[in-house]
Amino acid sequence: MFNKKIEDICNRQVEREGYSSDLYLAMASWAETNGLSGVAGWMYTQSDEERLHMLKFIKYINERGGKAVVPAFKKPPVDFKSAEEAFKEVLKHEEFVTASINEIVALTLEEKDFNTHNFLQWFVMEQVEEEASARMILDKLRLVGKNNMYEFDRDILGLRRPAANSQTTP
Ligand SMILES: [Fe+2]
Ligand SMILES: [Fe+2]
Repeated sequence: MFNKKIEDICNRQVEREGYSSDLYLAMASWAETNGLSGVAGWMYTQSDEERLHMLKFIKYINERGGKAVVPAFKKPPVDFKSAEEAFKEVLKHEEFVTASINEIVALTLEEKDFNTHNFLQWFVMEQVEEEASARMILDKLRLVGKNNMYEFDRDILGLRRPAANSQTTP
């Protein structure tokens, strides 16, 4: 039997990963309509990855005999002041997701659900990379972006970590 508390908190994470996907999709659309095609490309790919994170949770919950519930997602913002504001928002959001994953890890220890604890280790590592990636992009934006958004936008896709790191099958 899948622990009900763990099932519920994993379903909460389904919503959070799904919202992450929508948030980055909104940022992609904003960037694309503001001449930032590189930033848009980065955000579209990021949005796809978040959807995969959501799927990992859905499949895991169901695999354990629980029931994954696809929720309604709140509407993400439509406009962003600048690419820097958008990436500050990305970092803030990823820090929130890290705290959320850590909360689940803590609960698995409390409830002695070592299978879920093991399942979460991929996400623990992923969050380290997600935060590092957002911080690195913000550093680059501060270095070059203020004076030359053209170069920043042209080069940003080269700052993505290889897809192999972020694609694992559950
Ligand atoms: Fe995620
Ligand atoms: Fe993320």
